[in-house]
Amino acid sequence: MTDTNVFQWLPCSVVFLSTAHGEQRDIMTATAMFVSEKNPLVVVSVAKDHLSEKLIKESGKFTIVIAGQGQKDLAMQLGSTEGDAANKFEKFSITSVAEPACVSCCIPEGSAAWLACEVEGGHDIEGYRIFIGRVVEQNDLGNPPLIWQKNKFYGLTPA
Ligand SMILES: Cc1cc2nc3c(=O)[nH]c(=O)nc-3n(C[C@H](O)[C@H](O)[C@H](O)COP(=O)(O)O)c2cc1C
Repeated sequence: MTDTNVFQWLPCSVVFLSTAHGEQRDIMTATAMFVSEKNPLVVVSVAKDHLSEKLIKESGKFTIVIAGQGQKDLAMQLGSTEGDAANKFEKFSITSVAEPACVSCCIPEGSAAWLACEVEGGHDIEGYRIFIGRVVEQNDLGNPPLIWQKNKFYGLTPA
């Protein structure tokens, strides 16, 4: 075993978590992974006591928006601003794609795809809430995805 910290080598899809409950809504940068494919389950890890976590708990749902390759700046903005402190939709002038199957979601223009999820289960662990979501609606928007590895953003190229 080497001393190298390979923890951050895991390449992850960069996603935006779009949440809403009552009059409140939020959007944050995160990563996501599927749990199973035949059963359409995905998992996200959300820091506790953030607005996103509160809205997911209250509404029982969230939308995973897979970030597009051109959304690096937006990913940093939505990943470094707290929804409790600022209205991110106004601050970053986010324009949402209109998707009839996901009317309450915010899908920033240029995103790759989205998956609307209902919370199927969860677990608290060391400052984070793990949410398992069942995908109930989805759409491919035709843009290539943005990847996060070793604290940097990448695009996809064929191997
Ligand atoms: C590339 C990237 C990935 C991130 N992934 C996560 C994540 O998986 N879970 C998390 O809680 N925060 C993650 N963050 C940080 C949150 O986006 C950040 O704390 C955000 O301000 C939370 O928004 P909120 O306070 O409106 O809920 C990530 C940030 C970046 C830039």
